[in-house]
Amino acid sequence: MGTTVIKNGTVVTADLSYEADVLIENGVITEIGKDLRGDQELDATGCYVMPGGIDPHTHLEMPFMGTYSTDDFESGTRAALAGGTTMVVDFALPAPEQGLLDALQMWDNKSTRANCDYSFHMAVTWWGEQVFNEMETVVRERGINTFKHFMAYKGALMVNDDEMYASFQRLAELGGIAMVHAENGDVVAELSAKLLAAGNTGPEAHAYSRPPQVEGEATNRAIMIADMAGVPLYVVHTSCEDSHEAIRRARQLGKRVWGEPLIQHLTLDESEYFNADWDHAARRVMSPPFRNKQHQDSLWHGLQSGSLSVVATDHCAFTTEQKRYGVGDFTKIPNGTGGLEDRMPVLWTHGVETGRLTPNEFVAVTSTNIAKILNCYPKKGAILVGADADIVVLDPKKEKVISASTQQSAIDYNVFEGMAVKGLPRFTLTRGQVAVHDGEIRTEEGHGKFVKRAPNTPVNKALSSWKELTAPRPVKRSGIPATGV
Ligand code: URP
Ligand code: ZN
Ligand code: ZN
Ligand code: ZN
Repeated sequence: MGTTVIKNGTVVTADLSYEADVLIENGVITEIGKDLRGDQELDATGCYVMPGGIDPHTHLEMPFMGTYSTDDFESGTRAALAGGTTMVVDFALPAPEQGLLDALQMWDNKSTRANCDYSFHMAVTWWGEQVFNEMETVVRERGINTFKHFMAYKGALMVNDDEMYASFQRLAELGGIAMVHAENGDVVAELSAKLLAAGNTGPEAHAYSRPPQVEGEATNRAIMIADMAGVPLYVVHTSCEDSHEAIRRARQLGKRVWGEPLIQHLTLDESEYFNADWDHAARRVMSPPFRNKQHQDSLWHGLQSGSLSVVATDHCAFTTEQKRYGVGDFTKIPNGTGGLEDRMPVLWTHGVETGRLTPNEFVAVTSTNIAKILNCYPKKGAILVGADADIVVLDPKKEKVISASTQQSAIDYNVFEGMAVKGLPRFTLTRGQVAVHDGEIRTEEGHGKFVKRAPNTPVNKALSSWKELTAPRPVKRSGIPATGV
């Protein structure tokens, strides 16, 4: 493999913008400077040369709600690259009583088809000695330092507080990070049953069954439990002010807590559920549901001020046919929406073009911040000598209208259908290989490699106020009264 040089662009990282060429050799950046030469030259005139996007929240070919999400590691990572994302992190989900290592084996098998690099988070969907023991192997041997806990989906993936606390304490020992899907699953189950009993069967009832309060309550609870366990906490798909407020407060108190809004929650609102077309509404059913404008503003303000750290997609794509499993009962509509191909251009359009985010902040929230949190920086998320050449050459003038008819995703619709976006890849490179050139897809199935991530201790050790303030202290007493009367 010869050398490649990206010429005449502006390098944009999370902290700097400057004009330079970037030289790539064997998939790695080997030089950054003026007037570089290579065997292959890619013209980046008028473009920004940025770290490729990292989407830390995907569900590819995920068994869920009686079916499998339709985008697999092939179509999902092809969609990712088409939109300038060069790494995805998917969730390995053990079935009830299934071991963690067993579940990981299934994800290893599925991911051999990936077109770009990827990693896994491990989900803790039940608790027992086997899980406790295998967590060590997952962290130390498999290079997975992030573990997700579902506080919702009662009777399926949900764990209770005692299980969550036990798992969080184990993660604190191992140098892992706890992740939560923060919704109060007991309350959601009650509200859903009540709505159905009253004849509310349509997709809009999904939103009524999961109000912001259930998310705010669960986020607060997870933060307090994480604080008691002394473990860092990452809150996935933060969708509302109630949850954002809890995260903001925790961070101000010095707790190591991060929040992850999705591009869908930033740009689509709850009015989608009141569309007269059942399919339109059901295609947008996801948890948490889309919110109103006030909640959207809160999420944007969080990204602007730094209280929210990462923009993801939670890409979990179901076809219209799959969504129709829920006709007559909204609780059976498979939860999830797509967005892998659209996250970067939609955020550029609604974030950078509107002046809410600088190009450097865009890089931070789409790539660099999460690379640091997940402990794979600067291999990923950086334009630095020695970093993997996962690069998007973003053309700020290039435009399109999002349409299912031209997307890479295998589903038959797109929740952003009709949205005009600006800021598209001229090139997307995965470890130095051009996977996309001006919309032409040149991906290579199986090119993607698993990215190992070491545990975070001691750098990411959470500060635990509980340990400081209320850890048991021995008390000297003059005597202890006799018991009984
Ligand atoms: O509705 C959603 N978000 N589906 C995917 C699974 C999850 O909760 O992340
Ligand atoms: Zn979730
Ligand atoms: Zn998810
Ligand atoms: Zn290859």
